Amino acid sequence: MKKFTRSFLLAAGTMFPMAAHAAIDWGSVSGKDIVLFYPGQASWEWALTPSDMSGADDFRKGKNCDVCHIGEEKDMGPQIVTGKPRLFKTGEKPPIEPTPMPGKPGGFPATVKVANDGTNLYVHLEFNEGAQPDAKQDPAFATKVTVMFDNGKVPEANRGGCFAACHDDSAGMASGAGANRTMYLPRTHAKMTRQGGGDALKGADDLAKLKADGYQLEFWQASLNPGQPAKATAEIVFDKREVVSPNLVTAEAKQTGGVWSVTLSRPLQAAAPYSSIVAGGTYYIGFAIHSGHTARRFHYVSYERTLAIDSGTADLVAMKK
Ligand code: HEC
Repeated sequence: MKKFTRSFLLAAGTMFPMAAHAAIDWGSVSGKDIVLFYPGQASWEWALTPSDMSGADDFRKGKNCDVCHIGEEKDMGPQIVTGKPRLFKTGEKPPIEPTPMPGKPGGFPATVKVANDGTNLYVHLEFNEGAQPDAKQDPAFATKVTVMFDNGKVPEANRGGCFAACHDDSAGMASGAGANRTMYLPRTHAKMTRQGGGDALKGADDLAKLKADGYQLEFWQASLNPGQPAKATAEIVFDKREVVSPNLVTAEAKQTGGVWSVTLSRPLQAAAPYSSIVAGGTYYIGFAIHSGHTARRFHYVSYERTLAIDSGTADLVAMKK
């Protein structure tokens, strides 16, 4: 019997290899509170239009989104999510959510921790998404946690985080008109207007040059259901959002007492199309969480944060553990 158990364990170990890396003791890592808020149809083009978003001129002059907005997210989400006119000291602004979901929370804070073990970068989030109505948009997964990683070579994302990839003509957005467009980066498109970039891309040579210059965002996602193993996906956002092969992203998650605890990881050194992540580099990350079986734009998002490896003055410093 003993012998049987032992050989069974060995066989099981081969079939289901254990995670190749040691677990990080997250209790020993200090966290940063980051509020995720519901953005409605606030697109890149919307945010760059002064009559729509009054910080647009200042943004164009060089003031980044986070400078004005970090600290305000907890008020933004709840008023956007209702789909009602939005109230500010300066007056009323029209709704930016045409299809509100009754009872949907406007946002929630996540405690974010990062670390590395010399081989992998780990990004850990703990959050309680609250009571979520079932949107029935993604029946397969209750919750999805996404990290948007910017290697520092996407000027729009360095300044505006995920909003750089979120356009007015993407699926479900104000100028989407039934299109199935995913996220994309502005410089890949031939012409950007208030409605977005449409389907006309730059020429092949220009696109190849952008690629060679590292102009892309990585999208690391953990798809979750309570009580089940997390499913990890790696994608890249360039002229569209596309799955990357091989998938170098792993994810682990559990939910205890309503609190999700989710860890995404990726090797620091990685061959193209991934960007290698090195000590001394300045990176930017943004977060998105789809709660209540939502898909596409119906998520919570964060403003961008800086990320450094081993040491530095970034918002999030992944120290060696
Ligand atoms: C100079 C400060 C400033 C900058 C920079 C700025 N904003 Fe704003 N933003 C505002 C103000 C003020 C409002 C309040 C609404 C208004 O008057 O338009 C606002 C409103 C918003 C709202 C709606 C909030 C709500 O509660 O309805 C969103 C979303 C938003 N901004 C996103 C962005 C994004 C994305 C960027 C960067 C691309 C950005 N903002 C840059 C000042 C700024």
